[in-house]
Amino acid sequence: MKGVILAGGTGSRLEPLTKFLNKHLLPVGPYPMIYWSILKLKEAGINEILIVTNKNHLSSFIELLGLGEDLHVNIQFKIQGNVGAGIADALMSAKKFINNEKFVVLLGDNIFEDSLSPFVHSFQKQKKGAMLLLKEVEELTRYGVPHLDKTNLKIKSIIEKPSNPPSSYCVTGIYMFDQKVFEYIETIHSSHRNELEITDVNNLYIQDDQLQYDILKGWWVDAGTHESLYQANQYVHEKIKKEDAN
Ligand code: G1P
Repeated sequence: MKGVILAGGTGSRLEPLTKFLNKHLLPVGPYPMIYWSILKLKEAGINEILIVTNKNHLSSFIELLGLGEDLHVNIQFKIQGNVGAGIADALMSAKKFINNEKFVVLLGDNIFEDSLSPFVHSFQKQKKGAMLLLKEVEELTRYGVPHLDKTNLKIKSIIEKPSNPPSSYCVTGIYMFDQKVFEYIETIHSSHRNELEITDVNNLYIQDDQLQYDILKGWWVDAGTHESLYQANQYVHEKIKKEDAN
């Protein structure tokens, strides 16, 4: 399987840091944020990785990562055509790289504890469709939130940034898709925040009864705000301290 890391966007919630630096190059523990997504993919056996970022920041990513030599992965880059046009728009840039395979997408600002290996293995067994990973969180209005059925076996729908969250879980920025995702993206329209929403794409998978989910057990942070970036740093430093003590 291949992996796509979305590392574009405006990073507006992290200004002024993001006025001169891409959000995904800000430090989380001893590394720039983007390292964590690459290491998670690598740990799950995914070595073919596409990073989608903005034109202005491309040279910094290349300077940092080269073609992945230091991290022992193969990295390609793609420029996101329309900055700020949403996750689904950015994902469309990966179509050629994916070339009819199933694949994993990570939002580069999602920092988390769980290994992706078990989830990737179960998605490999899934014939088609998509798989999402959920996490129980408090600030639900910041995220996409699933409405689960009574048995908790299926997601009935997902609501983006709901004022009345239908469950206590958020949809994390860890997605597994088949190639149908590109067809779905072509049918959706911009939301009220003027973005092509990945939530709309996931709702199309639900309509076709092709969406599975699992739940993360460890900590998870969307490091897109000053406070959550600080929290991601705390989690990572704790993890490193524990590993050093063992
Ligand atoms: C995006 C998705 C949202 C998801 C979140 C996870 O939110 O739209 O559904 O829960 O990532 O990090 P955004 O970062 O665009 O606000």
